[in-house]
Amino acid sequence: MNAKQVAAYKAVEAVQAGMTVGLGTGSTAYFAIERLGALVRNGLQLQAVGSSLKTESLAREAGIPIVDFAEVRHIDLYIDGADEVDENFNLVKGGGGALVREKIVAFNSDTFIVIVDSSKQVQTLGAFPLPVEVVPFAANLTLRHLEKMGGKAALRQKEGRTFVSDNGNFIVDVQFGVIQDPVALNVAINVIPGVVESGLFPGTMVQRVLVGYDDGRVDVRVHA
Ligand code: 5RP
Repeated sequence: MNAKQVAAYKAVEAVQAGMTVGLGTGSTAYFAIERLGALVRNGLQLQAVGSSLKTESLAREAGIPIVDFAEVRHIDLYIDGADEVDENFNLVKGGGGALVREKIVAFNSDTFIVIVDSSKQVQTLGAFPLPVEVVPFAANLTLRHLEKMGGKAALRQKEGRTFVSDNGNFIVDVQFGVIQDPVALNVAINVIPGVVESGLFPGTMVQRVLVGYDDGRVDVRVHA
């Protein structure tokens, strides 16, 4: 098993029968979906919500019952990866472009377990460009505002076209360099009209970070 897989499998140990589970997006969350699918096929009863259309379809293929997010009143546990995790449990997310739904699921979950390999651990956030989802109508002006805040911003492209999120929006990736105060920056970005959501997840949203290593070890960091 690789580092992402061991972290994901360890996180799935927290799943209990009857739970509503939030499923993350990306190559680390993939292993959690795979593991959970095997447990469901073995008789574990639960329901899940996906943080992206891709995750919903992976989960269905794995046999996990997916419920419509609009019908959900309560999420017990959310398991997802991250692009960066700092010492205070703050995250950068959105490398896969699912940050808006991911943040909504995280905010509405009793427990959020972040699963990463050790390369994602950083002292301060900012080496990974910060994804910000923006309304297409205002994309260029919004990008300029993000640059005025000190970032170098680029509209995300995929296969030669502007990337479009599951919500029909664009993503701007912003290089801020070292982010000294992620909580303040998140607020400052989110007040720009045209911004849907930033990929900065304040540490207050996170209960545990599981850090996997290729030798099979998993460090469990619990947020007090
Ligand atoms: C998707 C995300 C992912 O959690 C993040 O990009 C990490 O991905 P991976 O597990 O593939 O490294 O935020 O929007």
